[in-house]
Amino acid sequence: MKAYQFVVPFLIIVRFGIGDLFNDPWRVLEIGQNEIIQVKESEKLSLKRSGVGFIDVTDHLSLPWGKKIKNAAPVPYYDYPQTVSQAGTVKKLIAEIDQVAMHDDLARFCSFFTRYYKSASGYESAQWLSSKLHNLTGELSSEIFEIEHFDHKKWKQFSIIFRVHGTETADNVIVIGSHQDSLNMIFPSLMPAPGADDDGSGTITSMEALRLYLKHLGNGHLPKNTIEFHFYSAEEGGLLGSMDVLGYYREQGRKVVAMVQQDMTGYVANKNDEHIGLVLDNANERLVNFLKVVIDAYVKIPYRETRCGYACSDHASATKNGFPSAFILESENAKTNRYIHTTMDTLDRLDFDHISEHVKISLATVIELSNWNFGK
Ligand SMILES: *[C@@H]1O[C@H](CO)[C@@H](O)[C@H](O)[C@H]1NC(C)=O
Ligand SMILES: [Zn+2]
Repeated sequence: MKAYQFVVPFLIIVRFGIGDLFNDPWRVLEIGQNEIIQVKESEKLSLKRSGVGFIDVTDHLSLPWGKKIKNAAPVPYYDYPQTVSQAGTVKKLIAEIDQVAMHDDLARFCSFFTRYYKSASGYESAQWLSSKLHNLTGELSSEIFEIEHFDHKKWKQFSIIFRVHGTETADNVIVIGSHQDSLNMIFPSLMPAPGADDDGSGTITSMEALRLYLKHLGNGHLPKNTIEFHFYSAEEGGLLGSMDVLGYYREQGRKVVAMVQQDMTGYVANKNDEHIGLVLDNANERLVNFLKVVIDAYVKIPYRETRCGYACSDHASATKNGFPSAFILESENAKTNRYIHTTMDTLDRLDFDHISEHVKISLATVIELSNWNFGK
């Protein structure tokens, strides 16, 4: 036996723990409306490689030993603005989008070996992100906001919730979502996953929108409704993090009136055909219509409606738990970044002018809805 035959497995075990190598439990996946399959944990990767979207509902069954999923909660109807009313404010803030800072932060975020939710570096990247978010708050009074680490019992990388308390109708919650984890779909525990576009770009989009929004708050404009930015863990495991967070919100009877997900905001296949993708699967039509109003008012490029398959990002967890949601994507689905989930999902392939257009959508959504009357 050669030395490396000992050394390599030894290093693997030291670096990633024994559990991941030998533990291959059964999982229950939802791959369509009321379409359930049961696979081994390791088979989830083959599904990913063949482009099948799924929600891993193993921890959300109506009986833990059964295969029945909890019923999806019905999504109530809310009215959203039919026109924008905050153009002056939004345009002033948009002018301050800082592409250099976004680039530097994203470079750092992709420099973690992987942000795989079960890995040590995926835990470190969550801590880095949390520290970044704390640093954005500057002089803001700690009574206005809170930063919550949402712990997931089965893996270490926590989700982060940045909450700005509503002053009048705090029960109405507006959520801007993205996911912080990345995945190398060949061997997630061993190979790097820079995840620049998926979903480093959405994370940085949220961070920049939040930075500008906090500036607005600093000028004394507190929201009537509650505003939350969610940075989910473990999207790549089948929406695990967002299902935990939004399932908990459902249990607690919380009222999310709008959830807008941004997952992949940086890749432009053809600059002459640049556009924003508005995903229709698992999305709420009224909220999508509101986003069209926002895009027409504030964004330089047009939108295009698109479909991405059943459970392509965390907005599906919101819908499943009874909250109206939508998903903004870098382009129509067929033209999105094909290097995701590999070592080639890198920063140099991204376009920061395009990311800025996505920042405008998140920022404008928050400002247009922060004082909107959703009823009690
Ligand atoms: C946040 O600010 C502290 C104090 O200035 C600094 O040490 C830390 O590195 C910052 N965190 C990040 C992630 O930049
Ligand atoms: Zn993603």
